[in-house]
Amino acid sequence: MNILHISDLHFGPYHWKGNDEALLKKINSYNTDIVINTGDLTTDSMESEYCDARDFLNGIKCDNIISIIGNHDKLNKRSHELFKEYIFKPEKLIYPLSDKRLEKKGLFLSEKNLVLNEYFTDINYLKKIKIGNKTLLAVCIDSNILNNCYGYVEESILNSLSLEINNTEYDMAVVLIHHSLLGTDECPLTNSKRVIDFITRHRVGNVFCGHTHESDIRQSNDIINKHQFTQFVCGSTSSGSISHQGYNMFYYLKNVGEENLQIYIVKIVVKEDKLEFQEERII
Ligand SMILES: [Fe+2]
Repeated sequence: MNILHISDLHFGPYHWKGNDEALLKKINSYNTDIVINTGDLTTDSMESEYCDARDFLNGIKCDNIISIIGNHDKLNKRSHELFKEYIFKPEKLIYPLSDKRLEKKGLFLSEKNLVLNEYFTDINYLKKIKIGNKTLLAVCIDSNILNNCYGYVEESILNSLSLEINNTEYDMAVVLIHHSLLGTDECPLTNSKRVIDFITRHRVGNVFCGHTHESDIRQSNDIINKHQFTQFVCGSTSSGSISHQGYNMFYYLKNVGEENLQIYIVKIVVKEDKLEFQEERII
């Protein structure tokens, strides 16, 4: 199973001056079973930005694209609706088990309307993808707070996801979450421990994140619970704001779930109207 990981496309004012067509051509040159896209497709959650992001994703020649929402995609009270309209509408959204004692701000559009339908602003879902004889379960977690760059995951939603996962058959589970769990930046996930507990409980081996605009791959080794996972933080793929690393990028993971796993980082440098790609095999 081959996975290509992109993130932080940032259509709108933060989008790069690079050539999107050249980027699509490069992405499409890989033999990819699944594209993982870890949020911040837009800059200001504007409809026109969502529209541009949709057009870009439509240019990727892969049947399985999994997108999650980022903090920049959730900057107004209806932006989650735009995500569902333009990017992806899950068949089944995951809701909290109960509306009692919910901590996350703006989880419902109105405090007076704690009803589990159009007033709910989080986009949590599961997606099953069969590649060959293996079924991958993508656990998509919305870590974003309405109009806020910090992350928070409602514990009640993790419990709902757990129930759903326990009733699902799969070979390998991965988690997609915009905010990083290991290693933080100035706008971190403030309850990452709860999410790590969840990952340990379900023996998830790979976690895919974005948000920081800095590529980073690290492993967590829980010695007590004897569980290890790898976290892939994808730097921005097409942002004008490229942090101190100085490049946009994506990852290509070949033979995921097999012994001969290969991991490539593809760095992208904008050179006038052209893109320069530097591919480096890490593992
Ligand atoms: Fe972000």
